[in-house]
Amino acid sequence: MTDLKKLLSQMTVKEKLGQLTQLNARVFIDTQADITGPLLNLKLTKEDLTTVGSVLNYWKPSEMVAIQRQHLKDDRNKIPMVFMMDVIHGYRTIFPLPLALGCSFNTDVVTECTKMAAREAVAGGVQVTFTPMVDYVRDARWGRVMESCGEDALLNSTMGAAQVKAFQGDDLRNKENIAACVKHFAAYGGADTGLDYSPVDISEHTLREHYLPAYKACIDAGVEMLMTSYTAVNGVPSNANEWLMKKILKDEWGFSGVVISDYSAVKDLVEHAITPSEKEAAEIAFNNGVDIEMVSTFYMSHIEELIAEGKISEEKLDEAVLRVLELKEKLGLFEDPYRGACETDDSEVWLTEENRDIARRAAEECAILLKNDGTLPFSKDVKKVALIGPFADTGDIIGFWACSGRPSESITVKEGLRRLLPGAEIIVEKGCGYEFNDTDKSGFAAAVEAAKGADAVILCLGEPQDYSGEGNSRVDISLHKIQLELAREIVAVNKNTAALTFSGRPLVLSELDETVPAILHMWFPGTEGGNAAANLLFGEVNPSGKVSMSFPRATGQCPIYYNRTKVIRQGPTGPHTKNVASFIECDMTPLYSFGHGLSYSSFKYESLELSSDKMGVDDKVTVKITVHNESDVPGKETVMLYMRDVFASNARPMQQLIAFKKLHFEAGERRTVEFTVDEPMLRFWGNDHKKISEAGEFEISTGYADHLIHTKSLWLEK
Ligand code: NOJ
Repeated sequence: MTDLKKLLSQMTVKEKLGQLTQLNARVFIDTQADITGPLLNLKLTKEDLTTVGSVLNYWKPSEMVAIQRQHLKDDRNKIPMVFMMDVIHGYRTIFPLPLALGCSFNTDVVTECTKMAAREAVAGGVQVTFTPMVDYVRDARWGRVMESCGEDALLNSTMGAAQVKAFQGDDLRNKENIAACVKHFAAYGGADTGLDYSPVDISEHTLREHYLPAYKACIDAGVEMLMTSYTAVNGVPSNANEWLMKKILKDEWGFSGVVISDYSAVKDLVEHAITPSEKEAAEIAFNNGVDIEMVSTFYMSHIEELIAEGKISEEKLDEAVLRVLELKEKLGLFEDPYRGACETDDSEVWLTEENRDIARRAAEECAILLKNDGTLPFSKDVKKVALIGPFADTGDIIGFWACSGRPSESITVKEGLRRLLPGAEIIVEKGCGYEFNDTDKSGFAAAVEAAKGADAVILCLGEPQDYSGEGNSRVDISLHKIQLELAREIVAVNKNTAALTFSGRPLVLSELDETVPAILHMWFPGTEGGNAAANLLFGEVNPSGKVSMSFPRATGQCPIYYNRTKVIRQGPTGPHTKNVASFIECDMTPLYSFGHGLSYSSFKYESLELSSDKMGVDDKVTVKITVHNESDVPGKETVMLYMRDVFASNARPMQQLIAFKKLHFEAGERRTVEFTVDEPMLRFWGNDHKKISEAGEFEISTGYADHLIHTKSLWLEK
């Protein structure tokens, strides 16, 4: 054990500030010999560099090892640096996007994938990951919805907490684990109009009910770090937002881990026009509890002076530095600063058969069968398959932010089909491109020709993987016109067609839904995407994913989400209606609602029973839902429990998920699934700024959003 307090007492203020600075690996790699551009821009000397406490964005473990080795020679205190990276959905073996993982509704899948990512990341020299991102999302125009689990606070909280536990395990010294960093505090997902980095304007009520719970759940799960968001929340940038950073994060939630800014977000305080001065930006962020400044160097440049002026206390500086040193100690870095990094850049734990198997099973659980008129599953007896579309034979299905994953190592849909159907002829025709402004139809004729004689046609459509992720916002999330035209021409010659769709956000699929008999949405499924797709299309595996973020009918419906409060005066869709809530062009509901997802099994929800229709604040009521798999196909079903507070002092959501269980059903199996309802599940953020429940009627239902069934009344008595 290192005596951290003693170590701290030996450090100069400059050295302490180094611990609170995180720099890009390139700064160290490019400045081995001399002071060059990057250092000058950062206003740092080579000596300053020897004090830096953490590094991000190194692409090879050998780089990490070299940087650490040099650092330990140069730093007079011999404090190892801590290495951080965005391991978002796998390190080298890539599994589906977080948004897709949400659709699995399966924490076992999330846990298995996350543990695998942690093992691979350790070999990659990663000690902390900037995951989980639990920003609650409602607007699919925002490209970063791919990093979230979706539009439900319970789902986001459950999946976020599962990731924290799986990354960190019980002991961070164990080299199968890495530290997690929850982000982006707070409410980055509320970016106005879905435009990345735009401000968030949100009521405290909505923030407390929907946006904040998942960060809190990760903190309760023991997350070591938290990252602030870039954005301004109700006019105040997170890094300057005393209410969020002090009152909620520290005072209410008691977070005692390390807080890091997002990428140059301390510097952004100047861009936000909160202050014209770099020095004041440092003062504001530090005094609001931002321990580590990522990438910009205002702390290093100004805090010594701010201490001398009495604007920052040295005691607070020591507390922040101690938090960072404690994290290093927990990770065992003082004894082993390389912590399992594979210096040869070729680790045997990467991309193993076992890891590929985990990634494939995850991709199978995350895919959603959005539509099926009986076309799927295809028979494996097919002789000739036409595989058409821009995603038919590409490795670019691993998704944005795939860390060290490589498209060249992923299984394409064509390769997946070849493996599953060794005797079948598979004709591949791209048909068209996938850019939003593609107009070249020269590939249509060959695609139509291929479809004509095929026993089964698979249309591989969607938007490119770099249309989602950071900085990728869209004004139109419809499937591109040219792909729709291709779909129409193909279905006109062969009805035995299913569409396989790829994207990092819910797309508008209204026209595709009218055109093709079946749609299987794959999201970006990762390294084993092609194998998963083939297994699902041909019935080797039964689809079980459910929508975790609504698919709108039209982009103009965004933001759209299932758990909204009641829209009053609802009226018929269409033009020339007066004084009613309705859209002229389309229905108010999404095309595919939260919780929607078909299966090759046929699940009948037979009943919902409550152990009592009344409860006091200390009581618990058991809910029993009987579900019957009426088919001869085994499959998984997510049984969901919803509630509605019928009358309250504050308008409540018309539907709100309060529990879910994903279960396997054998062919013909009937199961009674039990849930417990207690008073805390019925609470909401009241008008007097407290969580409360109110006596009265609650409706308890099952089914899924917009399709609630077996509704029963439960009365809370006080
Ligand atoms: C900026 C992103 O907003 C954040 O999510 C990420 O963790 C950091 N860059 C570091 O790469």
